[in-house]
Amino acid sequence: MSEERQRAQAPPPPRGTRPVIEVKGLTNRFGEQTVHENLDLDVNAGEILGVVGGSGTGKSVLMRSIIGLQKPVSGEVHVFGEQMIGRSSDEAKNVRRRWGVLFQGGALFSTLTLAENVEVPLREYYPALGETLLDEIASYKIAMSGLPTESAPKYPSELSGGMKKRAGLARALALDPELLFLDEPTAGLDPIGAAAFDDLIKSLKETLGLTVFLITHDLDTLYAICDRVAVLADKKVIACGTIDELLALDHPWIQEYFNGPRGRVAADAAERNADKPVPTMAQAAALTGGEAEA
Ligand SMILES: Nc1ncnc2c1ncn2[C@@H]1O[C@H](COP(=O)(O)OP(=O)(O)OP(=O)(O)O)[C@@H](O)[C@H]1O
Ligand SMILES: [Mg+2]
Repeated sequence: MSEERQRAQAPPPPRGTRPVIEVKGLTNRFGEQTVHENLDLDVNAGEILGVVGGSGTGKSVLMRSIIGLQKPVSGEVHVFGEQMIGRSSDEAKNVRRRWGVLFQGGALFSTLTLAENVEVPLREYYPALGETLLDEIASYKIAMSGLPTESAPKYPSELSGGMKKRAGLARALALDPELLFLDEPTAGLDPIGAAAFDDLIKSLKETLGLTVFLITHDLDTLYAICDRVAVLADKKVIACGTIDELLALDHPWIQEYFNGPRGRVAADAAERNADKPVPTMAQAAALTGGEAEA
């Protein structure tokens, strides 16, 4: 059995008490515009933390600050206990290789095939890997993401929207991350495709013991797979907890968001699905018509 497969079947890693991500006093500005002011947030090991907030409230900027793509005005960011702010991308390499990122919009390289896209982080971090092994690992990640392996030679323009999301996920999984950042992974998918993607994320989290930072507008996703939800508003995280804990708060945005008509439909659906067993990746792939042997 290959090391990759052994890793995939291993139980979740032991959980420490320190959060995997710790953000303290984060302030971000673009010119006159203050996006975050003194923002605090913790993400615990082994949880899926949903991040919600109105459009433009700074969800993507927060993610970019955590992964070192956005230099904040002030504040501290620790990931796996290591301070990230002010470190060069090279200095942070050992931490960066422990996470995978699915950017909003996918951010696939249009001139590279699906397999080549997945190989990008592998080539960066393991330049000595031979072509055969690279192709094998890419095929494995592609299958793991619920895509047919025949799609490996296709270019992004030849993939559907849902397939592009899965392609971005395959690339995010390339380095066997412990931590996954997902920015709007189900945006633009039809409800069945979005539900299948949710199932896939949940299943990957359970199987690989991942911690997931998940930005979403999708109420169904929040109810279906998130352990806690952080709400961004007024330049900070105004609340963070389970949906029940958030519903107990008297904040107008939170009430409108979760108790508006769309929120109630999502809550009803979550209740109906509460007793369903945790799905497998093969089931998730089958839902979208994929042929992957996940
Ligand atoms: N590189 C940048 N330069 C200037 N302003 C920026 C930059 N990146 C983001 N912003 C601004 O910061 C604010 C927050 O942007 P961000 O992309 O984080 O929003 P968001 O919460 O992710 O929104 P959405 O839900 O629409 O994706 C916006 O007003 C945006 O215009
Ligand atoms: Mg965004």
